[in-house]
Amino acid sequence: MNTPVNVCVVGAGLMGHGIAQTFAQAGHAIFLFDVDKNTLELAPLLIEKNLRQMGIDPKPVLDNIELCSDIASAVFSTDFIIEAITENLWLKQALFSSLAELAPSHAILASNTSVIPITDIGEKLSDKVRSRLVGTHWWNPPHLIPLVEIIKTSFTDDAVFETTFDLILSLGKQPVKVFQDVPGFIGNRLQHAMWREALYLVSTGVCDAETIDL
Ligand SMILES: NC(=O)c1ccc[n+]([C@@H]2O[C@H](COP(=O)([O-])OP(=O)(O)OC[C@H]3O[C@@H](n4cnc5c(N)ncnc54)[C@H](O)[C@@H]3O)[C@@H](O)[C@H]2O)c1
Repeated sequence: MNTPVNVCVVGAGLMGHGIAQTFAQAGHAIFLFDVDKNTLELAPLLIEKNLRQMGIDPKPVLDNIELCSDIASAVFSTDFIIEAITENLWLKQALFSSLAELAPSHAILASNTSVIPITDIGEKLSDKVRSRLVGTHWWNPPHLIPLVEIIKTSFTDDAVFETTFDLILSLGKQPVKVFQDVPGFIGNRLQHAMWREALYLVSTGVCDAETIDL
């Protein structure tokens, strides 16, 4: 997907507005939706501020972003949808059930969940729909951090996984492939392993906490 595609970002909060910015900077048409009107209206202002701090002219980027007041108009012509809503399994399941009804049947459905298994998010979807479901775990702030984990489940179609990887790569990001939907994916598991070892070293008297911090 090196040519521009229509992208919907659902959830315009901390992560959503930065993800929308990243796609818009790469020339994709963005349809941005949030259930909270104030959050939605704040998003272009935050994006403009980010871009000015980065020394980038905000106008052409903002021109690529359309704010949508309802989910149906946000997704009806999209090729790629990223969910960045509140970290709640039931909310995410309900959203993806709506997307299954409203989005084009070719659209890739991606979740930016931090810790919820993608498999659980797709639990209530048909096999056909969840073959288009994939994880894309961005890091805060998404417009600055290169890493994006691309997570495959046992039901994700190989072509969907590869297309998602290529699309994120084309944004100038550093996608990595996570072949199994394990808790914490890769990055958080590595971070937690280090924290666990730090606690062990302090609790066994090898060193004190100040030493770990240093
Ligand atoms: N904050 C981080 O550092 C970080 C990093 C990686 C991943 N994530 C994940 O990204 C997702 C979003 O996190 P965030 O920090 O941006 O949260 P946030 O609270 O800043 O934004 C979430 C937004 O989702 C909106 N929302 C809730 N339900 C909705 C729905 N049904 N439809 C449309 N919009 C809806 C809310 O109004 C809110 O504006 C979560 O799953 C989180 O775990 C967060």
